[in-house]
Amino acid sequence: MSLQGKRVILCVTGGIAAYKAAFLVRALTASGADVRVVMTPSAERFIGSQTLATLSGHPVARALFGDGGDVPHVELARTADLVVVAPATANALAKMALGISDDLFSATVLTAHCPIVVAPAMHTEMWEHPATRANVETLLARGVRLVGPASGPLSSGDTGPGRMSEPDEIADVAAAVAGAANDLAAKQVLVTAGGTQEPIDPVRFIGNRSSGLMGIEIAAEAARRGAKVTLVAGPTNVAIPRGIDVVKVRTAEEMRSAVFERAAAADVIVKAAAVADWRSDSHAGEKLKKAAGPPEIKLVATPDILAELGATPGARKPGSVLVGFAAETEPRPEKLVELAEEKRVTKGADAIVANDVSSDDSGFEVATNRAVIVSGGGAEDVGLVTKKALAAAVVDKIVSLLDA
Ligand code: C5P
Repeated sequence: MSLQGKRVILCVTGGIAAYKAAFLVRALTASGADVRVVMTPSAERFIGSQTLATLSGHPVARALFGDGGDVPHVELARTADLVVVAPATANALAKMALGISDDLFSATVLTAHCPIVVAPAMHTEMWEHPATRANVETLLARGVRLVGPASGPLSSGDTGPGRMSEPDEIADVAAAVAGAANDLAAKQVLVTAGGTQEPIDPVRFIGNRSSGLMGIEIAAEAARRGAKVTLVAGPTNVAIPRGIDVVKVRTAEEMRSAVFERAAAADVIVKAAAVADWRSDSHAGEKLKKAAGPPEIKLVATPDILAELGATPGARKPGSVLVGFAAETEPRPEKLVELAEEKRVTKGADAIVANDVSSDDSGFEVATNRAVIVSGGGAEDVGLVTKKALAAAVVDKIVSLLDA
């Protein structure tokens, strides 16, 4: 992976590791990047701006306001393919997490819509402080990519976590992140998310515990990586990122219609929705009266959208990739793999992501998932990770299946 043709903004904030920014500029430019350096006033105490200007071949940007009424952070952020913050001090992480924008660095990262890589550097106490931990969690949950910090001798004379990762390592991660940012370019991706609601009467329905988060993370990851994404979503309270076309549905039948209308144009279909398997065979037009006693509800099967897509090749684009999910009460990875493989074959999918819904930290209504991804090429045990990280692993698998 290289940074050929990529425009990278390197934000240097004020820690002793700022002296390594010179090597980082060299590593980024050696990889082909056009590097623009932004420095905070405290960074300038550790390294001269002239050094970084000379190495990058461009003047260093440091002021929030230009002389001619221009707005440097907007200009910089809009044209960037990647922002790298290195070293990122505890203060820099805190400002990023809170969205504070009182200098050129923080206003630039707040304006940027491209991927962001941060390489923290600080004393161990600051790194381990609950405030920093929370800020890092916030940034990770937003998709910021963290490199390091490494453990080793610190400028204070102590040894521990807090050392900025080496410039070559940061440049490699930057290249991987920038490369991944486009690996679904020009692809149409159709994702379903959330549970369906099958009405009993105008106020009651049969539903399930799906929050929609997993599917929305997959849609967001595909969009970040350049795809044109359509999300067919059952009712959800999870915010859907900008830039994704959303089709709201309620029932399995509505989801089926929305999916089949768009399936033929899609290069990738990911069925992350928890579709109700049954619905009531009748739907009262008026609210059923409690006084009339409990109703007898006869359940009938809903359409299995995934199985239908798998069994109807004409419904999909030739060469497209079909991915399904399997929610299983099964914590043992090897058993999950067996169940996933069985489902992959019976439903005609290219890959199945099987997740364990038996424990509190995996499956419904939580931000983490324990999953395996099974395709014709074998099984990958992703383990217990955030749904965002699982989404990245699923999209990696999709890219490799498209390439194959
Ligand atoms: O058979 P099971 O419900 O375990 O399969 C789960 C997978 O099938 C998921 O990808 C889900 O979106 C899909 N599915 C579907 N239509 C249904 C039920 C499940 O597309 N009626």
